[in-house]
Amino acid sequence: MKKYIFSALALLFAATSCDGISQNSSNDYPNEVIEAIMTRRSVRSYNDEPIADEIMDKILECGIHAPNGMNAQRWEVRVVKSQEWIKDATEAWKNSMPADSPMAKQFEDPSFKNMFRNATSVVFIAHRPGPCSQIDCGLMAGNMMLAAKSFGISSVCMMGPIGFFSTEAGKPFRETLALPDGYELLICVGMGYSDETPETPERHYSKVKYVK
Ligand SMILES: Cc1cc2nc3c(=O)[nH]c(=O)nc-3n(C[C@H](O)[C@H](O)[C@H](O)COP(=O)(O)O)c2cc1C
Repeated sequence: MKKYIFSALALLFAATSCDGISQNSSNDYPNEVIEAIMTRRSVRSYNDEPIADEIMDKILECGIHAPNGMNAQRWEVRVVKSQEWIKDATEAWKNSMPADSPMAKQFEDPSFKNMFRNATSVVFIAHRPGPCSQIDCGLMAGNMMLAAKSFGISSVCMMGPIGFFSTEAGKPFRETLALPDGYELLICVGMGYSDETPETPERHYSKVKYVK
């Protein structure tokens, strides 16, 4: 009888406690890929060191090797490394913003450098809208950010600045990106060498469950 009670309790325990994954707070990573994934953070403060061309090329190459629906590659990528472009776009963006906008608060912050969370390079990703195109572009951005991390380069994925490029003030900058007809800007990834060590924003482990 005791044996049955024990088995029933064990089963109940398994049913209620073993359906999720557990958090491992150890900093021992089994390989460099896992380390890059687990230590990548969105960085919003960068120093002025530029990213070397050959490193940026490899990051971009990793981007276009992302899985994508039917290998249709409904994406276009534009890389801005020009500090002048970034400065001018930021100036136009600032000037187009009403002074009482909550966004305008950030200009008072002495650490504010530009509208791309202070990154030194910006990779714009546009898509030709289709069933998988947004997912494809997200996977592409993910590949780029992890490749960047593997070179010690930090990044931040952003949708916030994208709206500006379809405004009157933003149009001239969008035009310099020379996107083919039918393509829409979707996201941009700011990159550079980090000037901060952000905390890891909490992840909800209970959202992951094994189906029995
Ligand atoms: C599609 C997407 C859009 C995002 N847009 C912005 C943005 O406009 N500005 C920003 O500072 N961060 C943006 N982020 C970064 C998220 O805030 C960040 O990934 C999230 O808080 C988790 O933090 P972590 O990247 O450090 O793990 C975006 C991330 C994604 C995936």
